[in-house]
Amino acid sequence: MAGINCIGILTSGGDAPGMNAAIRAVTRSAIFGGFKVKGIYRGYRGLITGEIQEFKTQNVSNIIQAGGTILKTARCKEFQTPEGRQLAYETLKKEGIDALVVIGGDGSLTGARIFATEFNFPIVGLPGTIDNDLYGTDKTIGYDTALNTIMECVDKIRDTATSHERLFFIEVMGRDAGFLALNGAIATGAEAAIIPEISTEVDQLAELIQSGFRKSKNSSIVLVAESPITGGAMALAERVKNEYPQYDVRVTILGHLQRGGSPTAVDRILASRMGAAAVDALLEDQRNVMIGIRNDEIVYVPFSKAIKNDKPINRELLNTLRRLSI
Ligand code: F6P
Repeated sequence: MAGINCIGILTSGGDAPGMNAAIRAVTRSAIFGGFKVKGIYRGYRGLITGEIQEFKTQNVSNIIQAGGTILKTARCKEFQTPEGRQLAYETLKKEGIDALVVIGGDGSLTGARIFATEFNFPIVGLPGTIDNDLYGTDKTIGYDTALNTIMECVDKIRDTATSHERLFFIEVMGRDAGFLALNGAIATGAEAAIIPEISTEVDQLAELIQSGFRKSKNSSIVLVAESPITGGAMALAERVKNEYPQYDVRVTILGHLQRGGSPTAVDRILASRMGAAAVDALLEDQRNVMIGIRNDEIVYVPFSKAIKNDKPINRELLNTLRRLSI
């Protein structure tokens, strides 16, 4: 593999459970393969400011179970400018880093793609985001843990919804993607999921009310994906309060609860496999690709595809939710 001696790792964008497992996997696989490894702190900002430390195997001991990211993370505006990226490139040269593994979501991989093209620099990406909105991989690192957190929270809210016979709108994250809302709804037996992928096609709220969803039930839970397209849980609840005053409506916004916590086994294994695969990809002279897992097999997804394509919602899941929530 042409001229790579030292691999840099960074995490960028929103933290996601399993990022530490990924850092550990990249570090250990790289050291196992005879490479030097450097950890870059605070995402792309660390590349600009030079917050970099050499990682040995011990630097990543005892972190597989920890949420968040030991490398810290940031959303770096300066890296979006050519001047910022030039500074980042100079840091890489100075530190002797020949390739990068970037762990992050859509925005982070977009930055990676621009940088890699501008400086002809080898970068491999790992999909680290609870949103699951990167194309070309069945799951992103952090998604399963967030889904399980949502499930635990909704199960608890269900107790109050049932006891008080209320209609709850629970807003979940996903930044314009409905994976958490839809699968969270199926996992909790919720009555409906309001997701941006469908919001442009139908008025989901009106459909829900018209379907007479309260006929057989006194309490209901609706998961709402945060997004200007769905309007969010607050706006939907306001609408119901005005149009259907007979309903006792409440709203819960789960917020950053969903991003924290110890990763599930699924996320730890996903992150470990993907982290090891990132080093393999560099060994095979791959660059500008995101590591994905499809049908339980590692795949390389060009950045251009992973970022640009909207990952479609599986309509079968929507249908299942509809059938099971009568
Ligand atoms: O992309 C991950 C994510 O958690 C989104 O679901 C959410 O919209 C966003 O990050 C929130 O970002 P921040 O923590 O910067 O408010």
